[in-house]
Amino acid sequence: MIKQERMQIIKQQEIAKHIFELTVQGELANEMAEPGQFVHIRVADSFEPLLRRPISVASIDLEASQFTMIYRAEGRGTQLLAEKRPGDTLDVLGPLGHGFPVEEAQKKAYLIGGGIGVPPLYELAKQLNARGIETVHILGFESKQAVFYEDKFRDLGDTHIATVDGSHGTQGFVTHILNELPTDFDTYYSCGPTAMLEAVQWAYPQKKGFLSYEQRMGCGIGACFACVCRTTKSETDYIKVCSDGPVFPAGVVIS
Ligand SMILES: Cc1cc2nc3c(=O)[nH]c(=O)nc-3n(C[C@H](O)[C@H](O)[C@H](O)COP(=O)(O)OP(=O)(O)OC[C@H]3O[C@@H](n4cnc5c(N)ncnc54)[C@H](O)[C@@H]3O)c2cc1C
Ligand code: FES
Repeated sequence: MIKQERMQIIKQQEIAKHIFELTVQGELANEMAEPGQFVHIRVADSFEPLLRRPISVASIDLEASQFTMIYRAEGRGTQLLAEKRPGDTLDVLGPLGHGFPVEEAQKKAYLIGGGIGVPPLYELAKQLNARGIETVHILGFESKQAVFYEDKFRDLGDTHIATVDGSHGTQGFVTHILNELPTDFDTYYSCGPTAMLEAVQWAYPQKKGFLSYEQRMGCGIGACFACVCRTTKSETDYIKVCSDGPVFPAGVVIS
């Protein structure tokens, strides 16, 4: 059930350059079901900025009624969010959208993430591992300074890192690593920039895949049409990324 709640901030720390890990506690955490769902955060009590910011859930701790997000402090809203401290409260709406279908993986899954699309793959990896699925993580970042959660992913399975400037791992994009890896997996899951999602789809046309789209959003609940995309079904068929997604099977969304 979607809730709006003033959640307690438990932890806020910078874990890479301009990348923050934020843990909150409250009833809403108990509503979390699928990895890849997101919340909509009001970053200030004033009228400006008016719109909430969509941020994915990176890990869920149901026992403690907590969940953690990882975000890049980039524009005005996320910079205001980075100023919050433990003990402050935060206006959160969620959980929103439909996440990654964990039951679709059979034995081995590739989890392919780019930049700030990496966080939801962490809870996904945890849940797939809990189901006995082997996960391989292929994660791309701008540079070494922007890399986060490498060890945490390594604890859950084989992990490969690409950086655009070559300062850590393989130089280039995640697709450079994919070209070198075997194709002995049954399902892939991906989240990141649209160009990366396109490249991943092209790389594995025969495989079952699920992609999470980070479209610009207004309401986050299907009411404002800010996030609509066309589908491959017909010229007039549209989906709302916020409420129909953000995760869709590969080959469905024209972005
Ligand atoms: C489903 C979903 C999950 C996301 N998960 C994460 C996450 O886990 N971590 C993270 O750092 N970022 C995530 N994003 C992107 C994040 O929402 C934007 O980067 C953030 O809203 C930018 O806000 P700002 O105040 O920094 O920028 P501003 O430029 O001030 O934002 C202006 C407006 O544009 C929207 N906007 C700007 N960039 C984006 C974008 N890339 N995607 C969607 N809306 C945007 C903002 O929500 C706001 O309404 C996610 C986006 C979506 C749609
Ligand atoms: S953001 Fe309003 S309909 Fe999707």
